[in-house]
Amino acid sequence: MKGTYILAIESSCDETAAAVVKNGREVLSNVISSQIALHTLYGGVVPEIASRKHIEKINPVVTEALANAQMTIEDIDAVAVTYGPGLVGCLLVGVGEAKAIAYAAKKPLIGVHHIEGHVSANYICHQELEPPFLCLVVSGGHTHIVIVEDYGTYRIIGRTHDDAAGEAFDKVARAIGLGYPGGPKLDKLAKEGNPEAIAFPRAHVEGCPYDFSFSGVKSAVLNYLNIAKMKSSAKGEAPAEGTEFCPEVFEDGITRADLAASFQAAVVDVLVARTVAAANEYGMERIAIAGGVACNSALRAKMREVGEAAGKKVYYPDPILCTDNAAMIGSAAYYEYMAGHTADWTLNAVPNLKLGER
Ligand code: KG4
Ligand code: ZN
Repeated sequence: MKGTYILAIESSCDETAAAVVKNGREVLSNVISSQIALHTLYGGVVPEIASRKHIEKINPVVTEALANAQMTIEDIDAVAVTYGPGLVGCLLVGVGEAKAIAYAAKKPLIGVHHIEGHVSANYICHQELEPPFLCLVVSGGHTHIVIVEDYGTYRIIGRTHDDAAGEAFDKVARAIGLGYPGGPKLDKLAKEGNPEAIAFPRAHVEGCPYDFSFSGVKSAVLNYLNIAKMKSSAKGEAPAEGTEFCPEVFEDGITRADLAASFQAAVVDVLVARTVAAANEYGMERIAIAGGVACNSALRAKMREVGEAAGKKVYYPDPILCTDNAAMIGSAAYYEYMAGHTADWTLNAVPNLKLGER
C-alpha cells in the first residue's frame, strides 16, 4: 500500500466523526454520527449532552471508519484530531480518543484546527485546487475571509463583529418557527419566497471593508416579525418544539417564505460582495467557500454568479463535506504531517484556538 493514510477524528460540536484519508485528497471512509435529533428537542446544542453522546459513539465510529476503509490501525500512518476551536467537553472526547489510539499503536499524533479542516474540504472535492486562494469560511461559529497563502498558512482579512453567519441563520429560523438546525430549513423555505419582498439592511463595518455584522439584519427580522405578529390575525402551523409561533402569511400579504428569502438575500449579498471585493483587492484568482453555511443554495449560486462575472474561479465542497466531518480533518492533517507538525502527548483541547496558532 503506497501513500500516507491518516485516521482523523472530529468531535468539536454535535457530530461524532471519523475518517480515513489518503494523501490528503482521497477519502477512503467518512463516518458521521449526527446528534441533531437529540438536540432538536432543546432547540440547539446542549454541550453536556453532546459530550456524553460523543463518549458513547466515538469507539464505534472509529471502528466503522477503519472497517469501511478496509484497514486496521496498523495500516495507518498517523492519527489526527480536531483540538479546537469548539465545545471543550466535546473536543476532549476526540483528543482523548486520538491520543489513546496513537499511543497504543505507536503512531504520530496530529492536532488540527477545525477551521483549517473546513478550508481543506475543498482539496478533497477539487483535486486541482492549491494555495494561494481566498476562502470565505462561514459556519455556526465563524465568519472569516481568509487568504490561504500556503497549506497551513492563513491570513485573516475579514471577520464578523458579532454573530457568525450560521448563528444568524439559526436564530432567525428559530424565530420563524423552523426549529433546529435552522440553516438548512431556512434555505429550503426561502426557495418558495421572494428575496426582494423586504429590504433588510446590509450592514457595513466602518473602516473595515471586509468585516461583517449580522446583528442588525437579525434584529430587523425580529422587529418585522413582532410587528407583523401583532397586526396579524392569520393562523399558521403549530411551532416546532423550542421555537416561536409564526403565521404563514402576514397582514400585508408577505409570507413567512418571503421573510426567509429576504433575510437570506441580505446575508448572502454581503458575504458575496465582500469576498469578491477582497479577491479583487488582494489579486486572488480563486475563491473557495467552506463551513456549514457553504451548503446554502443561494450563497453557492450567488458566489458563482458574481465571482465568475469578476473573472474568478469559484470552488465549494460537496454539502456532506461542508458541515462537520472528519474527512476534512484528515485532509488538513496530511499537510500538517508533511510539514512535520506533529503533536506530543500534552496535546489538549483549546476551545478558543485561533487560526494559524499551534
Ligand atoms: O460547519 P458547521 O457544521 O459547524 C460549525 O463548525 O459551526 O456549521 C453549522 C452551521 C449551522 O449554523 C447551520 O445552520 C449552518 O451551518 N448551515 C446552513 C445550511 N446548512 C448548514 N446555513 C444556511 N443554509 C444551509 N443550507
Ligand atoms: Zn464546523
